Amino acid sequence: MLGASGVEMTIAVSEAGGMGALAAGALTPDDIVEQSAAIRQRTAAPFSVNLLVVRPAAPDGATVAAAMERLRPWRERLGLEAPPTPNSFAPDFDDQFAALLRAAPPVASFAFDLLSRPQVEALQARGTLVVGTATTVAEARAWAALGVDAICAQGGEAGGHRGEFLKPGPGSLIGTMALTANIHAVVDLPVIAAGGIMNGRGVAAVLALGAAAAQMGTAFLLSDEATISAAWRDRIETVGDDPTVVTRAFTGRNARGIDNGFIRDMRQDEDHVPAYPVQNRLTRELRAAAAEAGESEMLSLWAGQGVSLARAGSAGDLVQRWWEEARAASREVHERTHGRGDLRR
Ligand SMILES: Cc1cc2nc3c(=O)[nH]c(=O)nc-3n(C[C@H](O)[C@H](O)[C@H](O)COP(=O)(O)O)c2cc1C
Repeated sequence: MLGASGVEMTIAVSEAGGMGALAAGALTPDDIVEQSAAIRQRTAAPFSVNLLVVRPAAPDGATVAAAMERLRPWRERLGLEAPPTPNSFAPDFDDQFAALLRAAPPVASFAFDLLSRPQVEALQARGTLVVGTATTVAEARAWAALGVDAICAQGGEAGGHRGEFLKPGPGSLIGTMALTANIHAVVDLPVIAAGGIMNGRGVAAVLALGAAAAQMGTAFLLSDEATISAAWRDRIETVGDDPTVVTRAFTGRNARGIDNGFIRDMRQDEDHVPAYPVQNRLTRELRAAAAEAGESEMLSLWAGQGVSLARAGSAGDLVQRWWEEARAASREVHERTHGRGDLRR
Protein backbone atom coordinates (compact mmCIF):
# COMPACT_ATOMS: atom_id res chain seq x y z
CA MET A 1 0.00 0.00 0.00
CA LEU A 2 1.81 3.00 -1.39
CA GLY A 3 1.69 5.84 1.14
CA ALA A 4 0.40 3.57 3.89
CA SER A 5 2.94 0.80 4.44
CA GLY A 6 6.63 0.05 4.16
CA VAL A 7 9.33 -2.39 5.18
CA GLU A 8 8.05 -2.81 8.76
CA MET A 9 4.55 -3.90 7.74
CA THR A 10 5.92 -6.22 5.06
CA ILE A 11 8.14 -8.01 7.58
CA ALA A 12 5.44 -8.16 10.27
CA VAL A 13 2.88 -9.73 7.91
CA SER A 14 5.34 -12.24 6.44
CA GLU A 15 6.65 -13.24 9.87
CA ALA A 16 3.06 -13.86 11.04
CA GLY A 17 2.45 -16.32 8.20
CA GLY A 18 0.89 -13.98 5.65
CA MET A 19 2.71 -12.59 2.67
CA GLY A 20 3.79 -9.02 3.23
CA ALA A 21 3.92 -6.77 0.19
CA LEU A 22 6.43 -3.95 -0.19
CA ALA A 23 4.81 -0.97 -1.92
CA ALA A 24 7.55 0.00 -4.35
CA GLY A 25 5.52 2.16 -6.74
CA ALA A 26 7.19 5.39 -5.61
CA LEU A 27 10.62 3.98 -4.72
CA THR A 28 13.85 4.76 -6.53
CA PRO A 29 15.65 1.80 -8.11
CA ASP A 30 18.28 1.85 -5.33
CA ASP A 31 15.57 1.85 -2.65
CA ILE A 32 13.86 -1.14 -4.28
CA VAL A 33 17.09 -3.13 -4.07
CA GLU A 34 17.99 -1.92 -0.56
CA GLN A 35 14.54 -2.35 0.99
CA SER A 36 14.16 -5.82 -0.53
CA ALA A 37 17.54 -6.77 0.93
CA ALA A 38 16.53 -5.34 4.32
CA ILE A 39 13.40 -7.49 4.35
CA ARG A 40 15.35 -10.60 3.38
CA GLN A 41 17.81 -9.91 6.17
CA ARG A 42 15.06 -9.78 8.81
CA THR A 43 12.78 -12.60 7.69
CA ALA A 44 13.25 -15.91 5.92
CA ALA A 45 9.55 -15.92 5.02
CA PRO A 46 8.34 -15.14 1.50
CA PHE A 47 7.34 -11.58 0.64
CA SER A 48 6.31 -9.70 -2.45
CA VAL A 49 7.23 -6.40 -4.05
CA ASN A 50 4.55 -4.36 -5.81
CA LEU A 51 5.13 -2.01 -8.74
CA LEU A 52 2.71 0.24 -10.61
CA VAL A 53 3.05 -0.04 -14.38
CA VAL A 54 3.09 3.64 -15.35
CA ARG A 55 4.00 4.90 -18.83
CA PRO A 56 6.08 8.11 -19.13
CA ALA A 57 3.85 11.21 -19.23
CA ALA A 58 4.60 14.31 -21.32
CA PRO A 59 1.61 16.62 -20.87
CA ASP A 60 1.53 19.90 -22.81
CA GLY A 61 2.02 23.16 -20.95
CA ALA A 62 -1.61 24.27 -21.32
CA THR A 63 -2.91 21.06 -19.72
CA VAL A 64 -0.59 21.45 -16.76
CA ALA A 65 -1.42 25.16 -16.39
CA ALA A 66 -5.18 24.45 -16.40
CA ALA A 67 -4.75 21.68 -13.84
CA MET A 68 -2.67 23.97 -11.60
CA GLU A 69 -5.27 26.72 -11.88
CA ARG A 70 -8.04 24.30 -10.82
CA LEU A 71 -6.05 23.57 -7.67
CA ARG A 72 -5.37 27.23 -6.85
CA PRO A 73 -8.25 27.67 -4.34
CA TRP A 74 -6.99 24.66 -2.40
CA ARG A 75 -3.42 25.93 -2.37
CA GLU A 76 -4.68 29.27 -1.12
CA ARG A 77 -6.60 27.63 1.70
CA LEU A 78 -3.37 26.01 2.82
CA GLY A 79 -1.25 29.13 2.21
CA LEU A 80 0.86 27.38 -0.45
CA GLU A 81 2.68 29.11 -3.32
CA ALA A 82 2.23 27.66 -6.82
CA PRO A 83 5.08 25.14 -7.19
CA PRO A 84 7.27 25.20 -10.32
CA THR A 85 6.11 22.89 -13.11
CA PRO A 86 7.64 19.48 -12.39
CA ASN A 87 10.19 18.02 -14.81
CA SER A 88 9.05 14.49 -14.21
CA PHE A 89 5.72 13.12 -13.05
CA ALA A 90 6.58 9.60 -11.87
CA PRO A 91 9.59 7.35 -11.34
CA ASP A 92 10.81 5.68 -14.55
CA PHE A 93 9.13 2.28 -14.68
CA ASP A 94 11.86 0.62 -16.76
CA ASP A 95 14.49 1.64 -14.20
CA GLN A 96 12.30 0.35 -11.36
CA PHE A 97 11.76 -2.90 -13.24
CA ALA A 98 15.52 -3.37 -13.78
CA ALA A 99 16.01 -2.92 -10.02
CA LEU A 100 13.25 -5.42 -9.30
CA LEU A 101 15.07 -7.98 -11.44
CA ARG A 102 18.21 -7.35 -9.38
CA ALA A 103 16.26 -7.67 -6.12
CA ALA A 104 14.55 -10.88 -7.35
CA PRO A 105 11.96 -11.11 -4.56
CA PRO A 106 10.00 -14.37 -4.14
CA VAL A 107 6.89 -12.68 -5.59
CA ALA A 108 6.31 -9.50 -7.61
CA SER A 109 2.88 -8.02 -8.23
CA PHE A 110 1.79 -5.37 -10.70
CA ALA A 111 -1.15 -3.02 -11.09
CA PHE A 112 -2.35 -0.30 -13.50
CA ASP A 113 -1.27 -2.03 -16.73
CA LEU A 114 0.22 -5.17 -18.26
CA LEU A 115 3.87 -6.13 -18.44
CA SER A 116 5.34 -7.44 -21.69
CA ARG A 117 5.85 -11.18 -22.06
CA PRO A 118 9.69 -10.83 -21.97
CA GLN A 119 9.34 -8.90 -18.68
CA VAL A 120 7.22 -11.68 -17.16
CA GLU A 121 9.71 -14.28 -18.36
CA ALA A 122 12.70 -12.32 -17.08
CA LEU A 123 11.23 -12.25 -13.57
CA GLN A 124 10.35 -15.92 -13.66
CA ALA A 125 13.87 -16.76 -14.83
CA ARG A 126 15.12 -15.05 -11.65
CA GLY A 127 12.82 -17.28 -9.55
CA THR A 128 10.19 -14.58 -8.96
CA LEU A 129 6.50 -15.51 -9.18
CA VAL A 130 4.49 -12.89 -11.06
CA VAL A 131 1.03 -11.66 -10.01
CA GLY A 132 -1.09 -9.42 -12.26
CA THR A 133 -3.94 -7.30 -10.91
CA ALA A 134 -7.27 -7.52 -12.74
CA THR A 135 -10.55 -5.71 -12.14
CA THR A 136 -12.48 -7.54 -14.89
CA VAL A 137 -12.45 -11.01 -16.40
CA ALA A 138 -11.02 -9.56 -19.63
CA GLU A 139 -8.08 -8.10 -17.69
CA ALA A 140 -7.53 -11.46 -15.96
CA ARG A 141 -7.48 -13.20 -19.35
CA ALA A 142 -4.96 -10.62 -20.64
CA TRP A 143 -2.62 -11.31 -17.69
CA ALA A 144 -3.07 -15.07 -18.05
CA ALA A 145 -2.12 -14.85 -21.75
CA LEU A 146 1.25 -13.42 -20.67
CA GLY A 147 2.01 -16.51 -18.62
CA VAL A 148 1.81 -14.98 -15.12
CA ASP A 149 1.66 -17.22 -12.04
CA ALA A 150 -1.43 -15.81 -10.30
CA ILE A 151 -4.15 -13.19 -10.69
CA CYS A 152 -5.16 -10.66 -8.06
CA ALA A 153 -8.92 -10.13 -8.54
CA GLN A 154 -9.47 -6.60 -7.28
CA GLY A 155 -13.14 -6.02 -6.59
CA GLY A 156 -14.93 -2.68 -6.61
CA GLU A 157 -14.97 -2.56 -2.79
CA ALA A 158 -11.18 -2.18 -2.67
CA GLY A 159 -9.55 0.88 -1.15
CA GLY A 160 -6.96 2.98 -2.94
CA HIS A 161 -6.30 3.03 -6.66
CA ARG A 162 -8.14 0.72 -8.99
CA GLY A 163 -5.90 -1.54 -11.07
CA GLU A 164 -8.22 -1.13 -14.10
CA PHE A 165 -6.49 -0.76 -17.47
CA LEU A 166 -8.69 -2.05 -20.30
CA LYS A 167 -11.89 -0.03 -19.74
CA PRO A 168 -11.51 2.20 -16.71
CA GLY A 169 -14.77 3.36 -15.19
CA PRO A 170 -18.03 1.91 -13.87
CA GLY A 171 -17.71 -1.30 -15.95
CA SER A 172 -14.56 -2.13 -13.99
CA LEU A 173 -16.27 -1.77 -10.60
CA ILE A 174 -17.27 -5.40 -10.16
CA GLY A 175 -17.88 -6.69 -6.64
CA THR A 176 -15.24 -9.01 -5.18
CA MET A 177 -17.69 -11.90 -4.91
CA ALA A 178 -18.72 -11.88 -8.57
CA LEU A 179 -15.21 -11.03 -9.84
CA THR A 180 -13.45 -13.77 -7.87
CA ALA A 181 -15.99 -16.41 -8.88
CA ASN A 182 -15.96 -15.37 -12.54
CA ILE A 183 -12.18 -15.28 -12.84
CA HIS A 184 -11.88 -18.57 -10.98
CA ALA A 185 -14.31 -20.10 -13.48
CA VAL A 186 -12.41 -19.13 -16.62
CA VAL A 187 -8.74 -18.67 -15.75
CA ASP A 188 -6.69 -21.69 -14.78
CA LEU A 189 -4.46 -19.89 -12.30
CA PRO A 190 -4.54 -19.23 -8.55
CA VAL A 191 -6.81 -16.26 -7.82
CA ILE A 192 -5.99 -13.85 -4.99
CA ALA A 193 -9.21 -12.09 -3.99
CA ALA A 194 -9.01 -8.43 -2.92
CA GLY A 195 -11.58 -5.86 -1.91
CA GLY A 196 -13.68 -5.54 1.23
CA ILE A 197 -11.99 -8.40 3.11
CA MET A 198 -11.72 -7.03 6.63
CA ASN A 199 -11.43 -10.04 8.95
CA GLY A 200 -11.36 -13.83 9.09
CA ARG A 201 -14.97 -14.16 7.98
CA GLY A 202 -14.03 -12.34 4.78
CA VAL A 203 -10.99 -14.57 4.32
CA ALA A 204 -13.11 -17.71 4.70
CA ALA A 205 -15.69 -16.28 2.30
CA VAL A 206 -13.24 -15.75 -0.57
CA LEU A 207 -11.58 -19.12 0.02
CA ALA A 208 -15.05 -20.65 -0.29
CA LEU A 209 -15.46 -18.85 -3.62
CA GLY A 210 -12.38 -20.62 -4.93
CA ALA A 211 -9.72 -18.02 -4.20
CA ALA A 212 -6.27 -19.36 -3.32
CA ALA A 213 -5.64 -16.43 -0.99
CA ALA A 214 -7.09 -13.19 0.35
CA GLN A 215 -5.37 -9.83 -0.15
CA MET A 216 -6.16 -7.20 2.46
CA GLY A 217 -5.34 -3.51 2.46
CA THR A 218 -7.79 -1.34 4.36
CA ALA A 219 -7.84 -3.83 7.24
CA PHE A 220 -4.20 -2.87 7.96
CA LEU A 221 -4.64 0.90 7.93
CA LEU A 222 -5.00 1.19 11.72
CA SER A 223 -2.19 -1.25 12.45
CA ASP A 224 0.87 -0.06 14.37
CA GLU A 225 3.01 -0.45 11.25
CA ALA A 226 0.79 1.68 8.99
CA THR A 227 2.55 4.87 7.91
CA ILE A 228 -0.55 7.04 7.37
CA SER A 229 -0.86 10.60 8.71
CA ALA A 230 -2.61 11.34 12.00
CA ALA A 231 -5.48 13.09 10.16
CA TRP A 232 -6.08 10.08 7.88
CA ARG A 233 -5.96 7.69 10.86
CA ASP A 234 -8.38 9.88 12.77
CA ARG A 235 -10.91 9.90 9.88
CA ILE A 236 -10.77 6.09 9.72
CA GLU A 237 -11.34 5.82 13.46
CA THR A 238 -14.34 8.14 13.27
CA VAL A 239 -15.75 7.05 9.89
CA GLY A 240 -18.92 5.52 11.33
CA ASP A 241 -21.44 5.10 8.52
CA ASP A 242 -19.84 7.72 6.24
CA PRO A 243 -19.43 6.45 2.68
CA THR A 244 -16.36 5.80 0.61
CA VAL A 245 -16.44 6.99 -3.00
CA VAL A 246 -14.43 6.48 -6.17
CA THR A 247 -12.77 9.63 -7.47
CA ARG A 248 -10.09 10.56 -10.00
CA ALA A 249 -9.83 14.12 -8.68
CA PHE A 250 -6.72 13.58 -6.57
CA THR A 251 -4.56 11.61 -8.97
CA GLY A 252 -6.18 11.29 -12.41
CA ARG A 253 -6.88 7.62 -11.79
CA ASN A 254 -9.95 6.12 -10.14
CA ALA A 255 -9.33 5.43 -6.47
CA ARG A 256 -11.62 4.72 -3.50
CA GLY A 257 -11.47 6.75 -0.32
CA ILE A 258 -13.56 8.38 2.37
CA ASP A 259 -15.65 11.19 0.88
CA ASN A 260 -14.54 14.72 1.73
CA GLY A 261 -14.73 18.37 0.66
CA PHE A 262 -12.04 18.13 -2.03
CA ILE A 263 -13.74 15.19 -3.74
CA ARG A 264 -17.16 16.87 -3.62
CA ASP A 265 -15.93 20.24 -4.88
CA MET A 266 -13.91 18.66 -7.70
CA ARG A 267 -16.77 16.38 -8.80
CA GLN A 268 -17.77 18.52 -11.79
CA ASP A 269 -14.16 18.86 -12.96
CA GLU A 270 -12.81 15.42 -12.23
CA ASP A 271 -13.31 14.12 -15.78
CA HIS A 272 -11.07 16.95 -17.00
CA VAL A 273 -8.10 16.52 -14.67
CA PRO A 274 -5.00 15.13 -16.43
CA ALA A 275 -4.53 11.37 -16.26
CA TYR A 276 -2.26 9.65 -13.73
CA PRO A 277 0.56 10.26 -13.00
CA VAL A 278 0.24 13.98 -13.91
CA GLN A 279 -2.59 14.95 -11.54
CA ASN A 280 -1.04 12.75 -8.85
CA ARG A 281 2.19 14.74 -9.10
CA LEU A 282 0.41 18.10 -9.24
CA THR A 283 -1.56 17.45 -6.03
CA ARG A 284 1.42 16.01 -4.16
CA GLU A 285 2.46 19.18 -2.30
CA LEU A 286 -1.18 19.96 -1.56
CA ARG A 287 -1.82 16.57 0.00
CA ALA A 288 1.42 16.68 1.98
CA ALA A 289 0.54 20.13 3.34
CA ALA A 290 -3.01 19.01 4.18
CA ALA A 291 -1.62 16.03 6.11
CA GLU A 292 0.77 18.31 7.95
CA ALA A 293 -2.03 20.74 8.84
CA GLY A 294 -4.41 17.95 9.88
CA GLU A 295 -6.86 19.08 7.14
CA SER A 296 -8.71 15.88 6.33
CA GLU A 297 -11.09 17.69 3.94
CA MET A 298 -8.18 18.16 1.50
CA LEU A 299 -6.44 14.86 2.04
CA SER A 300 -6.73 11.67 -0.04
CA LEU A 301 -8.22 9.34 2.58
CA TRP A 302 -7.84 6.08 0.64
CA ALA A 303 -9.92 3.30 2.18
CA GLY A 304 -12.19 0.51 1.00
CA GLN A 305 -15.88 -0.09 1.59
CA GLY A 306 -15.17 -2.20 4.67
CA VAL A 307 -13.31 0.63 6.40
CA SER A 308 -15.50 0.84 9.52
CA LEU A 309 -14.31 -2.70 10.39
CA ALA A 310 -10.62 -1.66 10.53
CA ARG A 311 -9.09 -2.40 13.94
CA ALA A 312 -5.92 -1.30 15.69
CA GLY A 313 -3.14 -3.68 16.73
CA SER A 314 0.17 -4.94 15.46
CA ALA A 315 -0.02 -6.19 11.88
CA GLY A 316 1.29 -9.60 12.93
CA ASP A 317 -1.36 -10.00 15.63
CA LEU A 318 -4.07 -8.97 13.17
CA VAL A 319 -2.94 -11.59 10.63
CA GLN A 320 -2.95 -14.31 13.28
CA ARG A 321 -6.35 -13.23 14.60
CA TRP A 322 -7.87 -13.26 11.09
CA TRP A 323 -6.55 -16.74 10.46
CA GLU A 324 -8.16 -17.96 13.71
CA GLU A 325 -11.40 -16.20 12.75
CA ALA A 326 -11.28 -17.80 9.29
CA ARG A 327 -10.96 -21.22 10.90
CA ALA A 328 -13.90 -20.50 13.22
CA ALA A 329 -16.01 -19.17 10.34
CA SER A 330 -15.35 -22.21 8.19
CA ARG A 331 -16.27 -24.51 11.12
CA GLU A 332 -19.50 -22.53 11.48
CA VAL A 333 -20.26 -22.90 7.76
CA HIS A 334 -19.46 -26.59 7.96
CA GLU A 335 -21.93 -27.02 10.81
CA ARG A 336 -24.64 -25.08 8.99
CA THR A 337 -24.18 -26.98 5.76
CA HIS A 338 -24.26 -30.25 7.66
CA GLY A 339 -27.55 -29.50 9.36
CA ARG A 340 -26.24 -28.76 12.85
CA GLY A 341 -26.02 -24.98 12.66
CA ASP A 342 -28.04 -22.57 14.78
CA LEU A 343 -29.71 -20.48 12.06
CA ARG A 344 -30.52 -17.65 14.48
CA ARG A 345 -26.87 -16.62 14.87
C1 LIG B 1 -4.01 3.08 1.15
C2 LIG B 1 -3.94 2.07 0.07
C3 LIG B 1 -2.85 2.05 -0.77
C4 LIG B 1 -2.78 1.10 -1.79
N1 LIG B 1 -1.67 1.07 -2.59
C5 LIG B 1 -1.55 0.10 -3.53
C6 LIG B 1 -0.35 -0.05 -4.29
O1 LIG B 1 0.63 0.69 -4.10
N2 LIG B 1 -0.30 -1.02 -5.22
C7 LIG B 1 -1.35 -1.89 -5.44
O2 LIG B 1 -1.25 -2.77 -6.30
N3 LIG B 1 -2.48 -1.78 -4.72
C8 LIG B 1 -2.60 -0.82 -3.78
N4 LIG B 1 -3.75 -0.75 -3.03
C9 LIG B 1 -4.84 -1.71 -3.28
C10 LIG B 1 -4.57 -3.00 -2.50
O3 LIG B 1 -3.52 -3.71 -3.11
C11 LIG B 1 -5.79 -3.94 -2.47
O4 LIG B 1 -6.21 -4.24 -3.79
C12 LIG B 1 -6.94 -3.35 -1.71
O5 LIG B 1 -6.51 -2.70 -0.56
C13 LIG B 1 -7.92 -4.45 -1.34
O6 LIG B 1 -9.12 -3.93 -0.88
P1 LIG B 1 -9.37 -3.48 0.65
O7 LIG B 1 -8.70 -2.17 0.77
O8 LIG B 1 -10.84 -3.41 0.74
O9 LIG B 1 -8.74 -4.52 1.52
C14 LIG B 1 -3.84 0.18 -1.99
C15 LIG B 1 -4.93 0.21 -1.11
C16 LIG B 1 -5.00 1.13 -0.08
C17 LIG B 1 -6.17 1.11 0.83
